[in-house]
Amino acid sequence: MRGLLIAVCGLDGSGKTTQIKMLEEWFVKNNLSVLLTRQPTDYYRQDNRVRQYLDSGECPDMQAIALLAAADRRWHMKTCVEPSINEGTNIITDRYLYSSLAYFKVRGLEPEYIKAINGDIRTPDVTVFLDLEPEITLKRVKNRDGKLTKYEERDPDMFRNIRAAFKQVLPNEALILDATQKPTDIHQLIIKEVENKLKLIEEVELYETR
Ligand SMILES: Nc1ncnc2c1ncn2[C@@H]1O[C@H](COP(=O)(O)OP(=O)(O)OP(=O)(O)O)[C@@H](O)[C@H]1O
Ligand SMILES: [Mg+2]
Repeated sequence: MRGLLIAVCGLDGSGKTTQIKMLEEWFVKNNLSVLLTRQPTDYYRQDNRVRQYLDSGECPDMQAIALLAAADRRWHMKTCVEPSINEGTNIITDRYLYSSLAYFKVRGLEPEYIKAINGDIRTPDVTVFLDLEPEITLKRVKNRDGKLTKYEERDPDMFRNIRAAFKQVLPNEALILDATQKPTDIHQLIIKEVENKLKLIEEVELYETR
């Protein structure tokens, strides 16, 4: 059976890493192979041009940054996500295309443009959006890290806009979860959806081999 692609999305500090770790444990406990990954990858995050923008807000060409993000994602899909899914490994990705669509929309680039440069990449089997007010996510990041480090994190309005943009660009079937709930309650909602999708894919593959 092919692996599932699960995308966990949300603002910085919304609880993605917390949920991803719990979900990984669930897969391991159920003897299902699982791989954690993230988009963008470290190639993008460590690029000096990207760092300059994230750290200081300085950016001579936002389209160039979007192209770097798209190239990073396309490479990651071809070299990591697609092969793993095909060999039966379930993939959990920390952020996906929808982060690019939402963040770059607020940075002034149309989602249609971002979609075009990212190419024809697969819709995840499960898309989770951890929905939370920026006031709370920023507080959580501050409590976790002791400070806010990204330039954009200094402006809660920016995050209000990114949250609204997410809701416009997420796939229709995305699981939009109230992220003020307890981590264990959120986890239960996610595994219910994952179990349904695992069953569905198994049935489809059984039908196709008949
Ligand atoms: N449901 C929750 N309720 C209260 N606090 C939470 C919840 N989920 C996570 N947290 C706490 O909020 C902080 C941020 O969580 P986490 O690191 O999982 O977020 P994140 O979305 O991965 O952030 P980033 O985008 O910066 O990687 C952590 O200190 C975590 O313990
Ligand atoms: Mg995280």
